[in-house]
Amino acid sequence: MSRVFSGAQPSGNMHLGNYLGAFKNWAKLQDSHECLYCVVDMHAITVWQNPADLRDQTREAAAAYMAAGVDPDRSILFNQSQVPAHAELAWIFNCVARIGWLNRMTQFKDKVGKNREKASVGLWVYPNLMAADILAYRATHVPVGEDQKQHLELTRDIAQKFNTDFETDMFPLVEPIIQSEGARVMSLRDGSKKMSKSEPSDMSRINMGDDADTIALKIKKAKTDAELIPERADDLDGRPEARNLIGLYAALADISRDDVCARFAGQGFGAFKPALTEVAVDKLAPITTEMRRLMADKAEIDRVLARGAERANAIAAPILGEVKSAVGFIGASS
Ligand code: AMP
Ligand code: TRP
Repeated sequence: MSRVFSGAQPSGNMHLGNYLGAFKNWAKLQDSHECLYCVVDMHAITVWQNPADLRDQTREAAAAYMAAGVDPDRSILFNQSQVPAHAELAWIFNCVARIGWLNRMTQFKDKVGKNREKASVGLWVYPNLMAADILAYRATHVPVGEDQKQHLELTRDIAQKFNTDFETDMFPLVEPIIQSEGARVMSLRDGSKKMSKSEPSDMSRINMGDDADTIALKIKKAKTDAELIPERADDLDGRPEARNLIGLYAALADISRDDVCARFAGQGFGAFKPALTEVAVDKLAPITTEMRRLMADKAEIDRVLARGAERANAIAAPILGEVKSAVGFIGASS
């Protein structure tokens, strides 16, 4: 039995990194797996969110998933806070995971920097909630970008410790699914930083809603170097910005980096950038149009999410019942 679960936070602009690192793959997996795709609104509030904005961003994230090809009839598409099992299981996992495990999480350390004492407790236990998201459905496969690998290792540690402590085989050990191209899309302004919605400069990323002119401008201004494109992708080592743009083309056109290099070998980035703009606009324009169409009917998105939540709850509730009983809680299923 295999089951796919993934999610993204509704905390602002969805960008090309989300699309290439996650959503594009989510759509493909529907052909071979039972899939659940979640808008993780409870993760979003680990940092301050304006309530009205959160509502709209949750709908926007759902629209982005659908525009990228997630079909809410074939897959289960919902927002996390509508299914109580996530919060309940997260509490149990708060009591399974060790303080030391969470202190090793690099995403937490990067996010809080020197302001650790001022961060919310939720931000610190964020990975336990993520483990609960996945294991509430006994999902086996999780398609994510490379930045989430460490969180999935923690999910495996939690599953294993739970199984050992309570002498059960309650939870499977999840496997990440990480694509070869697009798993790590970098900032257009700095090839050593990942493309991110939290980066202040909008020029550093291509948003899923950007129009053709904006995409063209951002690619034109993207940082590169003065060297030519080599024949093989290996020769891009030490040129992070060049590597990123070649990787973007590869992921957008669904070909390998070596193929991109072979196609443009000997040319400079002045010649390459218009070609990259063309494939980016070609891929993103239909998605942007579809997102706008979906966002015009918010009530319909809310209905899709409510129906998804019902279907998700039907899977998670009985599993949570088994978990509670294993822990020793008295209740309906014990
Ligand atoms: P987030 O926007 O952080 O909630 O991430 C949602 C999904 O997009 C996760 O699977 C991430 O791994 C993926 N993702 C986010 N940023 C990038 C990036 N720059 N490159 C590749 N994947 C990314
Ligand atoms: N932490 C993930 C991110 O920032 C989002 C997420 C929450 C997630 N729960 C998940 C991803 C469960 C995969 C599975 O990208």
